[in-house]
Amino acid sequence: MLSTVMLTLFLVSNLESSAELNFTYNGFRSSNLSLDGVAKIARNGLLELTNKTKGRIGHAFHPARINFKNSSNGTAFSFSTSFVFAILSDVPALKGHGMAFVIAPNLGFRGSVAGEYLGLFNPINDGKSTNHIFAIEIDTYYAPAFNDTNGNHVGIDINSIYSDVTSFAGYYDDNNNGAFRNLSLFSGKAMQIWLEYDGSNKKIHVTLAPIKVAKPKIPLLSLARDLSPILDEFMYVGFSAATGPWLTSHHYVLEWSFSISGQAQELNISQLPRLPHIGPKKRSMVLTIVLPVISILMFVLVFTSLAFLIRRKRKFAEVVEDWEREYGPQRFKYKDLYVATKGFKDTELLGSGGFGRVYRGTLPNSKIEIAVKRVSHESRQGMKEFIAEIISMGRLRHRNLVSLLGYCRRKGELLLVYDYMPNGSLDRYIHGQPKVTLDWNQRFQVLNGVALGLFYLHEGWEQVVIHRDIKASNVLLDAEFNGRLGDFGLARLYDHGTDPQTTHVVGTLGYLSPEQYRTAKATPSSDVFSFGVFLLEVACGRRPIEVNVDNEQITLVEWVFACWQKGQILKAADPNLGSSKDVAEDVDLVLKLGLLCSHSEPTARPSMRQVVQILERGAPLPDMSSLGLSFTNRMFAQGFEDITMPYPSSSNSGSKLTQSSTVSDILLSGGR
Ligand SMILES: *[C@@H]1O[C@H](CO)[C@@H](O)[C@H](O)[C@H]1NC(C)=O
Ligand SMILES: *[C@@H]1O[C@H](CO)[C@@H](O)[C@H](O)[C@H]1NC(C)=O
Ligand SMILES: *[C@@H]1O[C@H](CO)[C@@H](O)[C@H](O)[C@H]1NC(C)=O
Ligand SMILES: *[C@@H]1O[C@H](CO)[C@@H](O)[C@H](O)[C@H]1NC(C)=O
Ligand SMILES: *[C@@H]1O[C@H](CO)[C@@H](O)[C@H](O)[C@H]1NC(C)=O
Ligand SMILES: *[C@@H]1O[C@H](CO)[C@@H](O)[C@H](O)[C@H]1NC(C)=O
Ligand SMILES: *[C@@H]1O[C@H](CO)[C@@H](O)[C@H](O)[C@H]1NC(C)=O
Ligand SMILES: *[C@@H]1O[C@H](CO)[C@@H](O)[C@H](O)[C@H]1NC(C)=O
Repeated sequence: MLSTVMLTLFLVSNLESSAELNFTYNGFRSSNLSLDGVAKIARNGLLELTNKTKGRIGHAFHPARINFKNSSNGTAFSFSTSFVFAILSDVPALKGHGMAFVIAPNLGFRGSVAGEYLGLFNPINDGKSTNHIFAIEIDTYYAPAFNDTNGNHVGIDINSIYSDVTSFAGYYDDNNNGAFRNLSLFSGKAMQIWLEYDGSNKKIHVTLAPIKVAKPKIPLLSLARDLSPILDEFMYVGFSAATGPWLTSHHYVLEWSFSISGQAQELNISQLPRLPHIGPKKRSMVLTIVLPVISILMFVLVFTSLAFLIRRKRKFAEVVEDWEREYGPQRFKYKDLYVATKGFKDTELLGSGGFGRVYRGTLPNSKIEIAVKRVSHESRQGMKEFIAEIISMGRLRHRNLVSLLGYCRRKGELLLVYDYMPNGSLDRYIHGQPKVTLDWNQRFQVLNGVALGLFYLHEGWEQVVIHRDIKASNVLLDAEFNGRLGDFGLARLYDHGTDPQTTHVVGTLGYLSPEQYRTAKATPSSDVFSFGVFLLEVACGRRPIEVNVDNEQITLVEWVFACWQKGQILKAADPNLGSSKDVAEDVDLVLKLGLLCSHSEPTARPSMRQVVQILERGAPLPDMSSLGLSFTNRMFAQGFEDITMPYPSSSNSGSKLTQSSTVSDILLSGGR
C-alpha cells in the first residue's frame, strides 16, 4: 500500500520533471497560469500583473513545479528563460515600483509586501536564506534605503530585495562595438530579457534589449554564483509586481519561454499581444488634422448657415404692429410676395408710376395671379389710418374696380396686392405706338365701365371715396377688356406724408381741376374734372397736355373746346376710329360730355350719376352754353395741327414736363 503511494508519487514527480522541461507562451490567451492578487490575463493574451489600484500585488506563475536540481547529486540544472515585458504609467512623471522574474519554492508569498518589496519579501524575511527565492528585479523606483543607485535599473536578487548586482537599464550594442545604450524601463515600450544560468560554470547572465534588437552578445549583468543551495529541487517560475501606496504602474508580460538544461525557445515578436493605450494619448492623424479640419468646416458651415438665416430673416423682414392684428387675412407675407414675383425680378415688372413699381406674380400656394405694387413710404405717421382706409377700400367690390387683395408692410415700404389684370393699362392701347389699338366700341365699353366704377366710389358705398388720380394709366383692362379703375384712394398716401410740400396738390398734371391748384382739396367734382379729361383723352387719342414746336404747352381740353367753338368738334376725334355714323354720334357725345365734365367751374360739372345716365343715353346732354364762359379766361388753344414735335413716348422721357408724373413728384424733385 505504502509502496503504491510512493510509486505514484515517484511517477508524478518523474512526469513533472520530464514533461515540463521547457515551455513557451507567445501570449497568454489560453494559458493555465496561476494568478493571484490583481494579476489577470487580458482578452488579447496580455498578462497584466498590476492595475491602477494602489498598494497591490500581482503574481503569475507557471502552474506546474519544475525540477531544478538533480536529486541524486543535489546540483542545480542549467536553465534559460526569456520574456518580453512593458511598464506603463497613467502619469508619465510619476513612476511606480517595478516587477520581477521569480523562481520560488511556493506560491502565495505569504506576508509579502507591495511597493519596494515587489510582492516578494517583507521587512522580516528579507535577506533570509530560508527564502529560497531567486529573482531578476526590473526596478523603476529609486529607493536609496534599499541601496538603489537609480530609478531605472535591473538587478539580480537572491533571497533579498537588496540586489547582489545591479545595472542601469540598457544594452551593449553589437552593431556599435559594444557601446552601451541606455534604455528607459518606464518608457511603456516592450523590451526583452534573457536569463541564463550555466549549471556547470555556476554563472548567471542577464541581458536586456529592445524587442527589435537581437540578443546582444555582452550581457548587462553577470554573476558567478552556484544556485544549488538557493534553489529547491522543485520550484515555481513566474512573475511578481506591486504598486506603491502612492504610485502605480501597469506591469505587463507579453511573451515568455523557459527551458531547463537547454536554450529557451526564441520568442516570436510578431505574435506580441497589443499593449493598451495608457496616459496621454498619442495624437493621431485623426486628432491632429482631420478633427480640427472637420471642426473648422463645421464652424464655417454653422456660421454660413447662420449668416444665411440672418440674411434671409432680414431679407424677408416685415413691419407688423399691434393694431394690424385685425387685418390678418389681408396681410400678406413678404416672403410669399417675394417668391410670387420671382424676387421682384425686372422681367416681372408690369410698369412704374407715381407710386412705385408694379410687378406681376403668382402666389406660391394658391397659384392666384396678382399684381404687387411697391410703394416706398418712409413715414410711419398716419400709417394706421391709411392702412385702415386701404383695408376698408379693399372691401369695395365692383366689376369696374381693380380688387385690392391685401398688403404687406416693411421698413420704408408698403406693398399692395391687387388682382392681376391680364391686359394691362389702357394708355398702352391709346398712346405711343400701340401694337393693338382699341376700336370705338371697345373704348366706349371701357369709358362706360370706368364711369360706373367711379360712380360706385362716389355714391355706391357707405362712404364717399375720392379717387384723385383718374387717368388712362390708372385704368386697367381685364381679360374681357372691361375697364377697371385702379389705385383708388392711394393718392391719400401723400396726405399722410411728413413733407408739408407734398400734403397739397395730389393728382396728375393735365387732369387736375383749376380749384385743386388753388385749394389743394380733392372733391367728387374734381374727380369728375379728371374723368372729363380722360374722356377726351380716349376719344381723341391724345395726351392731356402736349408741347408744340415753340415749346408751348397745349392742353387737350382747350383744343377740343376750340374745335367745338368752330363747330367742328369731330375734328378732334382720334382718326383711328373711323367715321361711321354710329361712331360719330357716340364720339360727338363723349367729346361734349368730356368738355362739360372738365368745366372750370365745379358746380357746372355733372355728377357721376348724371355722367353714367348720359353715357347710357338715359338722360340728354345738358346745355353746353355755359362752356363759353368757362374758357374766356384761358389762353386760346392753338390747333394740334401745328404740333410738329413727335408725341412724347409713353415713357415720358425727353419731354420737358413729365406729363404723367404726379404733381407731388414734381414738387418733391424741386420742380424739374
Ligand atoms: C522542449 O522539450 C521537448 C520535450 O519535452 C523537446 O522535444 C524539445 O526539443 C524542447 N525544445 C527546446 C527548445 O528545448
Ligand atoms: C489547464 O489546466 C486544466 C486543469 O488544471 C487542464 O485541464 C488543461 O488541459 C490545462 N490547459 C493547458 C493549456 O495547460
Ligand atoms: C484592479 O484589480 C482588482 C482585482 O481584479 C480590482 O478589484 C480593481 O478594481 C482593479 N482596479 C482598477 C483600477 O481596475
Ligand atoms: C544526476 O546526477 C547523477 C549522478 O551524478 C547522474 O548520474 C545523472 O545522470 C544526473 N541526472 C541528470 C538528469 O542529469
Ligand atoms: C551532478 O548533476 C549534474 C546535473 O545533472 C551533472 O551535470 C554533474 O555532472 C553531476 N555531478 C557529479 C559529480 O556527478
Ligand atoms: C547597503 O549599502 C551599504 C553601503 O554600501 C552597505 O553597508 C550595506 O550592507 C548594504 N545593505 C545591504 C542589505 O546590502
Ligand atoms: C545613460 O544614463 C546615465 C544615468 O542616467 C547617464 O549618466 C548617461 O549619460 C546616459 N547615457 C546616454 C547615452 O544617454
Ligand atoms: C511567428 O509568428 C508568425 C505568425 O503567427 C508566423 O507566421 C511565423 O512563422 C512565426 N515565426 C517563427 C520564427 O516562429
